[in-house]
Amino acid sequence: MTIKWNSRFNVGHAAIDAEHKLLLTTINALETSLRHPEDKEPLLFFVDQLYEFSIAHFRYEEALQLKHLYPFREDNVKGHEQLVQDLEQIQNNIHQIAKKPTLSVTDIAELHQHIKYLANNWLMTHILKEDLRMKGFMGGGDG
Ligand SMILES: [Fe+2]
Repeated sequence: MTIKWNSRFNVGHAAIDAEHKLLLTTINALETSLRHPEDKEPLLFFVDQLYEFSIAHFRYEEALQLKHLYPFREDNVKGHEQLVQDLEQIQNNIHQIAKKPTLSVTDIAELHQHIKYLANNWLMTHILKEDLRMKGFMGGGDG
């Protein structure tokens, strides 16, 4: 199921919120690409994009936290490391499955599970558990 942006996801910093929307949209695109699992290119493209966007986003947040002397930065950095590990594992699994010439029902179910996890756990852990703590600490603008 496609996830919709909700105002409770807002950290209150324009650039961070915009990047979170981009992560969410990319996960939705991954889900959409599973409607045609025989066409593996969009699936691989969006999972690789998600990885690239996430690395850039986490770096950006960490730099911004340093600038604003954010008191919970260390926790956030550790959280990012875990998220990157999880994402790398999922990315590898998706690539492994996509290498098969024909996907079985089990393979497709596994792909759905991975994407469901990214939407419901991975992204929500990041936005709701880690980043909402930044509210009020980072200013409201782009810097
Ligand atoms: Fe974030």
